[in-house]
Amino acid sequence: MYVCSCFGITEQQVREHAETGACTPRQIAGACKAGTDCGSCVRKIQALLGRGACPRREALDPVVLTGRGQAATAAAPVPAAAEAA
Ligand code: FES
Repeated sequence: MYVCSCFGITEQQVREHAETGACTPRQIAGACKAGTDCGSCVRKIQALLGRGACPRREALDPVVLTGRGQAATAAAPVPAAAEAA
């Protein structure tokens, strides 16, 4: 079923974006543009995200604190500027 008729985005597509880390309507918009035209679908997207479409937030957080208080990334490479800090 379509959630965003302006861009032809389905509930399944919203769930897939949520599974890959888009946990807010703004992040969904960044991933597929849903909600960025007329905006009438934003509440539907919020409802989908609120019904468990997004995995647990801590599982998505790329920063993992080490035992010595140093930050390290779990999934993504650290940008050079962050390594120098
Ligand atoms: S229905 Fe999604 S922006 Fe219009």
